[in-house]
Amino acid sequence: MKKTLDSNFYWGGSVSSFQTEGAWDEGGKGLSIYDVRPTNPEFSDWKVAIDAYHRYDEDIVLMKEMGFNFYRFSICWSRIIPNGDDEINEEGVKFYNDLIDKLIAAGIEPMITLVHFDMPYKLVKEYNGFASRKVVDLFERYARVCMERFGDRVKHWMTFNEQNLHATMLRVSNAEEIPEGVSEAKHLYQVNHNVFIAHCKATKALRELVPDAKMCGMTTVSNFYPEKCTPQNNLFAKQAYNYINAFHSDVFVNGEYPSYMVSYLENRGWMPKFEEGDAELLKYTVDYLAFSYYRSNTLTEGSFDNERPYGEIINEHVIKNPYLDATEWGWEKDAIGFRWTLNEMYQRHHMPLFVLENGMGAREELDENDEIHDDYRIEYHRNHIQEMKNAILEDGVDCMGYITWGPIDIPSSGCEIAKRYGFVYVNRTEKDLKDLRRVPKKSFKWIKKVFESNGEDLV
Ligand code: BG6
Repeated sequence: MKKTLDSNFYWGGSVSSFQTEGAWDEGGKGLSIYDVRPTNPEFSDWKVAIDAYHRYDEDIVLMKEMGFNFYRFSICWSRIIPNGDDEINEEGVKFYNDLIDKLIAAGIEPMITLVHFDMPYKLVKEYNGFASRKVVDLFERYARVCMERFGDRVKHWMTFNEQNLHATMLRVSNAEEIPEGVSEAKHLYQVNHNVFIAHCKATKALRELVPDAKMCGMTTVSNFYPEKCTPQNNLFAKQAYNYINAFHSDVFVNGEYPSYMVSYLENRGWMPKFEEGDAELLKYTVDYLAFSYYRSNTLTEGSFDNERPYGEIINEHVIKNPYLDATEWGWEKDAIGFRWTLNEMYQRHHMPLFVLENGMGAREELDENDEIHDDYRIEYHRNHIQEMKNAILEDGVDCMGYITWGPIDIPSSGCEIAKRYGFVYVNRTEKDLKDLRRVPKKSFKWIKKVFESNGEDLV
C-alpha cells in the first residue's frame, strides 16, 4: 500500500486575471466585461485588484518561498485580442511570456485558464457572449493564439473555469439577453452547449498544436447531503449531484451528454440545438478532471419542475447543516465531504483528478505587530489535506495535486477584498489602496512546511 504522496505531486496556488492583475487600461488591453460590470457599492472595483501586473516578480518570490511547484493563472482575453475580434496585442503576449518565463525560472510549473468568467466587452455588447456561435469561433481563435505563443512552455491547459456554472447562470457566459419567445431555461442550456463546443474546439486545437500538453475539464463541486433520510430527499440530493456536478464531467470524459441529462432536457423541451459536427466535437475528451471544492451543501426534500432550470430549484432547497461550522460567509467547512467528493468523482469517472481550488475566506486586519494569526486557515487546510491524503492513500484515488485558491489575498468573485483567502496579506481595503504591501501571515510558514515536506508535515 502507498504510504506517501508521489514525489511529483503538485502544490501551489490558483488565481484569475481580473482578481489579481489590475492595470485595467494599460499595455494595450481592451475593455473587459469586468471593467464595466457594476459591483456592490460597499465593495471595490476591479481596476487595481492587487496590482499583480506590476508586482508579479515580488509575488513569484513569495510563491517560491512557500514551496510552490505549480501556479494556475488565467489570461485576460482582452489583453491578447483587445476587442475579441481584432488584431493580436503583442504587448499583452509579452506580459504573459515574461510571467511564464519567470515562473519556470523559479521552478514553478504554469497552468493557463483561458476564460475565468471574463471576456472582451465588445463580444458581450455586439454578440451577447456565448449565446453566439460567432463568439465560439472567436474563442477558438483566441485559444489557438495562446497555444501557439505559450504552448512551448505551458503543458497544462484549461478552457473555462468552473464550466458547470454555465448551466446555472447566464451571467458567467455573458449571455444575459434572452431572445424573445424563448424561455430562460431553453436559452441557458443552449448557451451551456455552445460553451461545451468552445471547450471542445480548443481541446482539438491543443491536440494539433501542442500534442504533449494536457487539457482538463474543470467544474466546481460540492457534495449534497439530504436533510432527512426519506427516500425522496435522498433521490433529490442524488439528482442534484448529477445535474450540478456530474453532467459536465460525464461529457468531458465520455464525449456525449449522459442519458439522465438527455431525458431531463428532452422531457422539458430544453434540449439544445446541435449544429452539424457538434456530436463529433464532443468526442474531444480531456486528460484529467480538475475541480474547485470549498464546502458541502445540505438540501431539503424537493423535486424538479418543468418551468425553472435545475440550478434555481436546487438553490431554493439549500439549508444550514447543524453539524458543520461555517465561514463568516456561511460556507460550511467540510473536510470529510472533500474525501467523499474525491471518491465519488474518481469512482464514477476513472480519470485522474486535480484539486485546483480550495480555501476559506476570512476578515482580517494586521495587528499592532503587523501580524495576522490565522489559525483557522491552518486548521481548514490541515483538515482538507489530511482528508485528501486519506482519499489517495486509503481509498486509492488518483489525484495529481492540491492547489489553493488566492494564496496572496485577492478580491473575492464579487469584488470584496475583505473576503481574504491568502497566506499573504495584501495591505488595502475596499476603498483605500494603501501601499498594497505583501505581509506573510502565520499560515505562510505552515503551508511552506506542508508543501516542502510533500504533505507529510501537517502539524
Ligand atoms: C471560485 C472562482 O468560484 O471560487 C473564483 O473560481 C472565486 O473566482 C472563488 O474567487 C472563491 O469564491 P469567492 O466568491 O469567495 O471569491
